[in-house]
Order: sequence, then structure tokens, then C-alpha cells
Amino acid sequence: MNIVHVSAECYPIAKVGGLADVVGSLPKYQNSADVLSQVIMPFYDNKFTKENDFEIVFESKLKLGKEEFDYRILTLKKNNLGFNLFLVDIPELLFKNYVYSNDDTERFLAFQIATLDWFLSWDNKPTFVHCHDHHTGLTPFMMLQSKKYEALNKIPTVFTIHNAQYQGWFSHDKVSLIPEFDFDNVGLLDWGGSINPLAAAIKCASRVTTVSPSYMEELKGNANGLEWLLSHESAKCVGILNGIDIEVWNPETDNYLVKNYNQNTVQSGCKENKKWLCEKFNLDNEKPLFAFIGRLVGEKGSDLFPEVFKKSLETKNISILLLGSGNKDVEEQLDELKSEFIGTYNAFIGYDESLSHIIYSGADFLLMPSRVEPCGLNQMYALRYGTIPIVRSIGGLKDTVIDISEENGFGICHKEVTVSDIAIAIERGVELYNNQPEYKKLRKQIMSIDHSWNASANEYINLYKSLN
Ligand code: ADP
Ligand code: GLC
Repeated sequence: MNIVHVSAECYPIAKVGGLADVVGSLPKYQNSADVLSQVIMPFYDNKFTKENDFEIVFESKLKLGKEEFDYRILTLKKNNLGFNLFLVDIPELLFKNYVYSNDDTERFLAFQIATLDWFLSWDNKPTFVHCHDHHTGLTPFMMLQSKKYEALNKIPTVFTIHNAQYQGWFSHDKVSLIPEFDFDNVGLLDWGGSINPLAAAIKCASRVTTVSPSYMEELKGNANGLEWLLSHESAKCVGILNGIDIEVWNPETDNYLVKNYNQNTVQSGCKENKKWLCEKFNLDNEKPLFAFIGRLVGEKGSDLFPEVFKKSLETKNISILLLGSGNKDVEEQLDELKSEFIGTYNAFIGYDESLSHIIYSGADFLLMPSRVEPCGLNQMYALRYGTIPIVRSIGGLKDTVIDISEENGFGICHKEVTVSDIAIAIERGVELYNNQPEYKKLRKQIMSIDHSWNASANEYINLYKSLN
């Protein structure tokens, strides 16, 4: 079995969000389950590509409409990732210091064409092609429909929806960028009058997966316009819960942490990390620390933070720390709040991988009041580091966090994304924190919840096998 994952992101090469974490870890676990699992992604101009040496495995030209571009497939000279990595280098299009921008249609289409052109001449052809999110959504269509890829049309494809909010829409004016196909089938590309790569993938892939079972169900009622399509195709759709890389996310060995620890030393370990955070961000070490890490977008409920934080900080004896970036208006409001709550609130507006690891450990509670959460990895990282998640019960959060009021519960769940529901959840966090024996017991207990990829990597392998 030779699986090739096609993705725009992969940790540690290029990361914007959880997609990178998944593509950077699932193949590793699949390889240890004795199948060959590899990754192909764009070659960007970033820290990783600057710091590593590559060799060329293939060189050619690709056609994008009337234009021609030189490209190369590169691989790492020294690879300790746990999977083979191939990078598509199209200097004129992909080699930018960003992953996503407003030229994505051309860039990611060229990436997919280069990938498929290479597959055509590659001796070691994939037995399964596994595509992730809309940036790779036209691959199943092209493999089935484009004349030049006829030799690939028997290879089964799996398409994973990490987030159905983003669909990669573009106008029919650009249809000529797609390698020639029978125009009678142009309907496979269309949804609601524009070319929709996510919809095309749902129609053309052999199987469609989402990153949690609950999200799969929720999509049938709320999928940014694709509800009907997903219900119609439900026979080939399945939700498989994401896992996490427990080697990268291991508090015992994590180099980003100020202090390493395990289940037996969780109290002192977390305390040291919290102390460091509180000193750095001028917060009171003695108060319960509530944190948020993530994209400041509507899906994460972050527009409510200014009001929620204000309300909670005015009425409760707590500290709040935020790490994130996104919506400029929300960023500004969250930044301005700093001067109002000196000593109890702070925020780092931006992206900082190492700081995120210290927060997963040093915070007492991690807030995730998401409106939409296909899976969510943050709650699993928090659990592994002994931090109690406070989540809105939706999508993957619903599948991974049980409220403390229920049997074997270990987290705090709320139903709605409203200022009052989030504030009540924070209040429940304070109550739990005030019951130190119970709080400490939970901290220790949650560290042993197994969210590694072991189970889900096998579920994917069984899915591929069912396609043979
Ligand atoms: P999403 O992919 O929707 O953003 P996930 O929970 O799946 O959400 O994954 C988010 C990933 O991105 C996690 O690894 C999280 O730690 C990381 N992350 C998000 N925002 C930041 C940030 N500002 N700084 C560092 N890491 C971040
Ligand atoms: C998306 C989703 C997130 C999920 C991640 C990895 O970014 O928003 O919920 O965890 O993909 O699958």
C-alpha cells in the first residue's frame, strides 16, 4: 500500500493551523502500521526550506491554461520526519513567504497539476491518493476526468474535509486552467454557479472523510451551502476523529517547555510553566489562569472575547491570557483591553509555536467556545499537558470532552456560544479550581487519555483497504 497525502500544509514544514498538525503526524503513524505513507506539498519560501537541504527527484514544465511554468519535485537530503516528503517547487507561483493569499486558485491548481504530472511518470505510483481540504479538491476530479490523467483514473482517492467553511470557489472564466476534460461533465465542478473545489471533491472522491464523527453529522445541516450535497453523498462519507502526535506533544520531552514533567510530577511541572507565563505576562500566579490559543475568527467565537473577558475579569478573581491572530477588529479590541486590566489580563497578538506549548501546560483552563469546530486539536493538547478544557459542545469538541457533571467527566462543556454561557463556564472553572484536591486529581487523570493517532490511523488504513 502506497498512500500519498496531498496537502497545502504539513508540520513542521509549513503550518497555519490544525491541518498541518494532522498531515505532519497521520502519515508517521500509518508508516508504523506497516504501510507506506508519504506527503506531497508546495515548496514555500520559509524558515524550514531555508534551513534544510533538498535534492531534485523530477524536473519538468507544467501547463496552466496557456501559460507554462518550470517546476521541480524536491525531497529532503536528511529526513527524520517519519515519512517521505516531496515538495513541489514552482518558483514563479508557489515560492512565496505565505501559504494562503488571494492568488490561491492559480497557485494550488498549478500545485495539483504538477503533482499529477509527476505521478504519471513516477515509477512508484500511489495506490491511494489522500487529499486534504479545498486546495487539493480538484485532484479527484482531474484524476477521473482529465484526458491526460487517464492512467491514474483507477487509483482510489480519499478526500478529507478539515473545514467546510472554506471551499476555494472561483469563476467559470477560469475553467480553461483545468487540463482538458469532456465538457459535458463540467457540472461536477460546479456548485451554485461557480467552480467549487470542495464540492467537486465531494462528488468525485472515492470516499469523503471529516475530522470527527459529530462534524460529519452537523455538516448535513450546516455546511456553508453544501448540506444537500453531503446528505446526497452520505453513503461514501465517514467521520474519523483526528489524533495527535504524542511524540511532538509530550510534556516529558517537549523542548519548548520551561519545565518537563509526567503524570507523577504534573503539579510541580505545570506550576513552573505557569510561573514563567505569569512573570512574562505580568499576571498573578495564585489566580486561576484561563487561556485561549487560536485563530481570532467567528468560528472560534473570538468576537465575544472582549465582552466575555471584561465581564469575567470585573467579577471574578482570575487571570486571562490570549495567544492568537486573525480578525483585525477583534485583535485591536483584545489589545486595548490590556490597559484596562493590567495584572489580570494579557494577550500576544501573533503566532508563536513555542509560547503555545508553554500555555498548554501553564494555563489552568483552556477556552474553546467554538461556533464550528470540525475537530479541534487544542483541547487534546491541553488534556495531554494536564490543562482542563472548557469547550462548547460541538463537532470534535463534543466527541472528545465529557463534562465534569457526567460519569467519568473531566472538562467543562457549554451549549451555546453566548457571553453568558461562556461566563458561566468560566465560573464553573473557578469553582473547580477552588476545590484543589478535585482539580489536582483531574489534572493528573486527563494526562492519560489516549488521543494518539494509533486508532484513527488504522481506521484510515481500513478505509483505503475497502476501496481495493
Ligand atoms: P484550526 O486548525 O481550526 O486553527 P486546531 O485546533 O485544529 O484549529 O489547530 C490549531 C493549531 O494551530 C494548534 O496546533 C494550535 O496550537 C496552533 N495555533 C493556532 N493559533 C496559534 C498561535 N497564535 N500561535 C501558535 N500556535 C497556534
Ligand atoms: C481545521 C478545523 C479544526 C481541525 C483541523 C485539523 O482547521 O478548523 O477543527 O482540528 O482542521 O483537522
